[in-house]
Amino acid sequence: MPQKNVIITGATGNLGKVVTQKFLQAGYTVIATTSPRSANSAQVENLSYYQVDLTDESESKSFVEKVIATHGQIHAALLLAGGFTPGKLEKTSGDDVNRMFALNFKTALHVAQPVWAHMKQQQEGNIILIGAKPALNGNDAKNAVAYSLSKSLIFKLAEILNAEGNQHNLTANVIVPGTIDTPDNRSAMPKADFSKWISPDAMTEEMLHICSDTDYARENPVIRMFE
Ligand SMILES: NC(=O)c1ccc[n+]([C@@H]2O[C@H](COP(=O)([O-])OP(=O)(O)OC[C@H]3O[C@@H](n4cnc5c(N)ncnc54)[C@H](OP(=O)(O)O)[C@@H]3O)[C@@H](O)[C@H]2O)c1
Repeated sequence: MPQKNVIITGATGNLGKVVTQKFLQAGYTVIATTSPRSANSAQVENLSYYQVDLTDESESKSFVEKVIATHGQIHAALLLAGGFTPGKLEKTSGDDVNRMFALNFKTALHVAQPVWAHMKQQQEGNIILIGAKPALNGNDAKNAVAYSLSKSLIFKLAEILNAEGNQHNLTANVIVPGTIDTPDNRSAMPKADFSKWISPDAMTEEMLHICSDTDYARENPVIRMFE
């Protein structure tokens, strides 16, 4: 495979750690982000970490500009940074909504904007976003209102990107997992049936397939359910 560069946000997270290792093994050069509070900044071959607060628009834009200056082309961006908070409507404050909006939507938007502009110039690229099932279904959303509202915008963002993507050989895909089988989820829900959960390995295989097969990436890009 010719050398390809991929940005992975949330690379220190439960999903991001697995995705980062598998993209490295597949031969990608990985440009990983961590939040400013993370201590993980080790640089190893084909993997560099950048500390960026992705809720900050200008910091995110500078990060993408630095990546382009350092690495040349960005072939793919996997926008995994995000988080969860539970809460029914009556317990959801404006601050909760703002916090989830920043964490789940702005962190994606702030990277997608400059990366998409770069990809349009290159006429090549994939952006992968992570949705959430409750964002598609009011019955599931009612117990995690701020989270679901913030994730629902991810689908609209992908629709907007794809509306012009075809003309430029670009795709934006949203992978929609159920509960991901992570150490954090196992300790939070020790009595759950883990066999029903989504494996980060399987999600990563899906991302690798999307990034290597344009026709596959264009099939039903906005909602790729993973159950
Ligand atoms: N876990 C699930 O069951 C599940 C289900 C559906 C969807 N998802 C979605 O899947 C994605 C990954 O989930 P996960 O379980 O791997 O999450 P996670 O373990 O909580 O990891 C979150 C990642 O986001 C990064 N991050 C947080 N705030 C940031 C900021 N302001 N700037 C830059 N980076 C920031 C964190 O960096 P630090 O490590 O540096 O703090 C971390 O790498 C998320 O979008 C999540 O909403 C998860």
